[in-house]
Amino acid sequence: MKEELEKIREECQASLALAKSELDLSELRVRMLGRKGTLTQLLKRLGTLPESDRKEIGRQANELKRELETQIEENLHHLREAERKEALRKEKIDVTLPGRRKSFGKKHPLTQILDEIIQIFLRLGFEVVEGPEVELDYYNFEALNIPKGHPAREMQATFFISEDVVLRTHTSPVQVRTMEKKKPPVRVICPGAVYRCDSDPTHSPMFHQVEGLLVDQGITFSDLKGILTVFVHHMFGKETKLRFRPSFFPFTEPSAEIDIECFICEGKGCGVCSGTGWLEILGSGMVDPAVYQFVQYDREQVTGFAFGMGIERIAMLKYGINDIRLFFTNDLRFLKQF
Ligand code: DAH
Repeated sequence: MKEELEKIREECQASLALAKSELDLSELRVRMLGRKGTLTQLLKRLGTLPESDRKEIGRQANELKRELETQIEENLHHLREAERKEALRKEKIDVTLPGRRKSFGKKHPLTQILDEIIQIFLRLGFEVVEGPEVELDYYNFEALNIPKGHPAREMQATFFISEDVVLRTHTSPVQVRTMEKKKPPVRVICPGAVYRCDSDPTHSPMFHQVEGLLVDQGITFSDLKGILTVFVHHMFGKETKLRFRPSFFPFTEPSAEIDIECFICEGKGCGVCSGTGWLEILGSGMVDPAVYQFVQYDREQVTGFAFGMGIERIAMLKYGINDIRLFFTNDLRFLKQF
């Protein structure tokens, strides 16, 4: 048993030297000192020794047991201490390093322009309403006084879903939907996406418009001029010159387009304004009484005006952008400039 004890001692020393982790140490503890551990078993067998050997071997075995326990404890302590130091070293913060800036996203330039437009009209007492992008022919054309076969349909290259269903070509159908639901007074703007089969540097098959509609008793062309002049001055600056140019839309009579003085050449005529000195920014007019008949408004009682503008066009003019497709290709180098 004496030799056995020696072997155990050696094995303990070797294992202690090799133990690299808490796991190694606890395995060693179980292997030697656990209930079935080698040293425990030996201690249990002490009683079988002759009296003369029992005392000495017992003393040595118990000493080895105590030593092993302290060694394991100490090694554990060292291991944990080393781990803690390593963790502290790793987590150390170098306060002299330059800071890392968070980059915040921002609104798409079209959303910025739309927000600006909405804010201006909210302050003028308008509310925002929306309508569907997949629209009935009835709302997109018919009820806007553009019957089937009317040449005005040619102006808007239409995506047809079926004979009676289209992708709306403008936001004007929301006028009709609004008047169907609400009696006058009505004061709304209707922003949203619209679709036309058209694609070049100034046309995109999907683009955005804001429609406006104001109907009440006694509304005149002066109200149209007043409200839209306020809008232009807020949008493009107080000094902006504008003109109302006679035009035609089937759903308004009389109709006018609004031009602002070209801010590139200040009215002298340049490439951007095709030499005219003016830039067209929106269409407008007094609601044609024919439209009131589709929504059961009394054409003898109420009058009103409507307008519609392209958001991309306004953004392009305001920021001097020459290709509409830049808005939709999501190139961050472009988007970050706004
Ligand atoms: N819907 C027209 C278009 O897309 C724009 C427009 C013109 C809207 C005159 C109106 C208006 O409400 O009165 O070309």
